[in-house]
Amino acid sequence: MGSFEGRAALVTGGARGIGEATVRALAAVGINVIVADVLDEEGAAVAASLGASAVYQHLDVTDVDNWNAVLAQSERQFGPLTALVNNAGILEFGGVGDLEPAAFWRVLDVNLVGPFLGIHCAAASLRRAGGGVVVNVSSTAGLMGYQNLAGYVASKWGLRGLTKAAALDLSEANIRVCSVHPGPIATPMTAGLDASVAAGQPIARFGQPEEVAAMIRFMIVEGTYSTGSEFIIDGGAVTGTGPVVAPSTAEVPAAAR
Ligand SMILES: NC(=O)c1ccc[n+]([C@@H]2O[C@H](COP(=O)([O-])OP(=O)(O)OC[C@H]3O[C@@H](n4cnc5c(N)ncnc54)[C@H](O)[C@@H]3O)[C@@H](O)[C@H]2O)c1
Repeated sequence: MGSFEGRAALVTGGARGIGEATVRALAAVGINVIVADVLDEEGAAVAASLGASAVYQHLDVTDVDNWNAVLAQSERQFGPLTALVNNAGILEFGGVGDLEPAAFWRVLDVNLVGPFLGIHCAAASLRRAGGGVVVNVSSTAGLMGYQNLAGYVASKWGLRGLTKAAALDLSEANIRVCSVHPGPIATPMTAGLDASVAAGQPIARFGQPEEVAAMIRFMIVEGTYSTGSEFIIDGGAVTGTGPVVAPSTAEVPAAAR
């Protein structure tokens, strides 16, 4: 796909946390970045700190008209989009028995419908760029279940599934679509959680947003043979979960040994 220098990327939820770190990681390799968020003051400050290579746009990812307006404006400024990072997300606690239906819908709206709208609306711009990359920020909650997070888990599994479907649908346009699955990362979203959340992991600490951003940048710039793929960055949180059973040699056909 060649160099991304001078090309345009849009990062939703770019005002803080993993989104902000991703904006900075992409700008550092010469990519022009549209910082998109509903936190106007914080988002504008992030863009301003990067000079001419970044611009802030107000974007509520659940609003299709807002998506179309932002994409049109960013294409006028930076040309067609080569990368879209669907990072904006919200966390709502509550299990299947106590999460209010309205809260369940809200999580799905931001975390799943938002990325769908982003891909749906940005596909034409990515095509005009001759192809590109979509990164969907899922979670370990898109790989396993968690108690008391029914909406969040459902939304992140949905986003993982949307990634597969989009990778197939957009391959003819030279558009790769991948998901990234962070474990606990130290951002405003997790500010209320204590260290015990990561204590049982092989790497027993919260990750830093910059560590996730580096992986996202890799997925965009260097991961040219990956699409529909899941990139896990979780301190080993999902390692050892699930039925990992090695077949005995007797069960493995000789040709495969
Ligand atoms: N922090 C973690 O431990 C962790 C782990 C796995 C996955 N994630 C995912 O990473 C992504 C970023 O999370 P974070 O930890 O940086 O959280 P954060 O709360 O610090 O940042 C999320 C950003 O999304 C923005 N946002 C929320 N709703 C929006 C909307 N409707 N339209 C546009 N922007 C909106 C917020 O304003 C905020 O700037 C989320 O999708 C989250 O689910 C986070």
